[in-house]
Formats: sequence, C-alpha cells, structure tokens
Amino acid sequence: MEGKLPIFEKPKVELHVHLDGSIKPETILHYANKRQIKLLADTVEGLLQHVAYKEPLSFTEFLAKFNHYMPAIAGDLSPDEVVRLVNQGLREGERDFSVKARSILCCMRHMPNWSAEVVELCKKYRNDTVVAIDLAGDELISCEAFSRHREAYEEALKCGIHRTVHAGEVGPSSVVREAVDILKAERIGHGYRTLEDPVLYKELLDKNMHFELCPWSSYLTSSCCSDFTKHPAVQLRNDKANYSLSSDDPLIFGSTLNKDYKLAKKYMGFTEEEFIQMNINAAQSCFLPETEKKELLNQLYEAYGMILSTEL
Ligand code: NI
Repeated sequence: MEGKLPIFEKPKVELHVHLDGSIKPETILHYANKRQIKLLADTVEGLLQHVAYKEPLSFTEFLAKFNHYMPAIAGDLSPDEVVRLVNQGLREGERDFSVKARSILCCMRHMPNWSAEVVELCKKYRNDTVVAIDLAGDELISCEAFSRHREAYEEALKCGIHRTVHAGEVGPSSVVREAVDILKAERIGHGYRTLEDPVLYKELLDKNMHFELCPWSSYLTSSCCSDFTKHPAVQLRNDKANYSLSSDDPLIFGSTLNKDYKLAKKYMGFTEEEFIQMNINAAQSCFLPETEKKELLNQLYEAYGMILSTEL
C-alpha cells in the first residue's frame, strides 16, 4: 500500500537549503580546474576532507568551510547575472527532475551594504523563481549598520516580497524578537533559542510562525546540545508548533534531507504522521503564490495517500 511507505521514500518539502552549501564536490573541482584556481585538494575525497565534517565545530569554524571552495565557484559575474543564471538552473532542474524549486536571496549580517541590492534583485526577479528575502551569517557579530538590513526588509514588506530570517540559531532569543518585530519575518530560520524566552515562544506559537529546523546542522555548528533527545524540535513537536526539517548545507554536513528525518525518528521518536504533518505545514508556509501552493498541497495529499480534504 502506497500510503504505508515510510516518509523517506515520499516527496517532501524542504524550505531551508543554501545553494552554496549544496554544490557537488565534482562540480567544484571542475570549475577549479577550468579556471585554474588552486584548492586545498584536487580529488573528491581530498576536497571533502577539508570541506565536509562529522563532529561539532564552532559556528565561525563552520562558516570558514565555505572559504575552502567558493573561490572556484564565485566568478566575475554581477549579482544580477548570478541570480539570472541560478534561476535558469533551477528551471532546468524543475523540468528534469519534476520538482518545484524557488530561490530566496540572502542578505548577509556582516555585509549591510549589500542589502539594498538584494531587495532590488528580489523585486526584479519576483515573478521568475525568486520568492523571498533572507538574512544569514553570524548573529553574534555586532552589526553597526543594521539599519541597512532593516531598510531592505521594509522595502520587501512594502513590495509584498516574502521574508524569512536566520535567527536564534547561535544568537540569543532577542535576535528572533528583532526578526519578528523589526524585520517582520514570516518564517524563522532555525529559531532554537526562541525557547529561552517563554513570552516570545508563546507569541510565535499563537501566530503560527513557521520554524525551519535543521537538526543535523544544529549539531555540527554547535547551535544545539549534542543530545538529540533534548533538541528544540522535540518541544516544538510536543507543542504542535508549525515547523519542518531541512538540511541547510548538505555538502558541508555530508548529509541529505533524509539524514535529518532519520535523526528525528531515531532520537526524537517522530512518527510517520508527524513527518507527514510537518510537510503539510511546510507547504502551507512556503512562499509560492496561492494557486501553486494549493497544487503543491494536493500533490502531497495524493502522495501521502490522504483523502483530499481541501475544498476545491
Ligand atoms: Ni541556513
């Protein structure tokens, strides 16, 4: 019976995965070779030894992993050209693999001067693959020009561009508060430390805020304690919060999305019903236009062997 297959074999919704953390090592080596850029290694195994890891590192050490290979990937293109080419790649991927893929453009906490351009690119390409703005990077660095990020998010809100923010991953719950109150985030990337502020947590539960949880990532970046049975996902599950699981940076974490599902099943006791529900939550909280969101939900209901419960 199709409805009884485990979730691992079924279509899933992944809301939080960074393109620069998802490149195949073979692709990195191809471009390093083509562009004559010397990396720390010239074989897949050698490169992975430097880039991917299995035991927790500090968040700064994690971020440093990107420096080992991005020189081979980041080229002499304008940000506009990058977005256009990524869109083209996503469209080809959608066609070839029968999936739906959309992009979110990230502002970086340590680069406030980029944010105005990021939101302009969101506006320019909003009907062509780009669906939202994000803010990523190290929450613990002090950003003197935070107003630049705020202005970009105000512009996004004004123009109807969707908004998510990495917050409460390694930073305190006040960063989540800032994301919600000031940046008007509609989803929170990670958000683990929201739990340290019960008032904020209750408020976000009431708002049905979606949390993009990445358990394996949170272990390897030391964002959460190494005991998965105490992971914030457990409390969110018990409180019937709105959340889903994502892989974040599968290249660096040597993982696929199924790794996060397996962890949640093995150490946190997630059931098949809970996996199904979190995917429906993810589809409902995704940034697709409403008609496409409905189509996606219907595809999931069908794949999960559920009776169509939506009003058509
Ligand atoms: Ni992330």
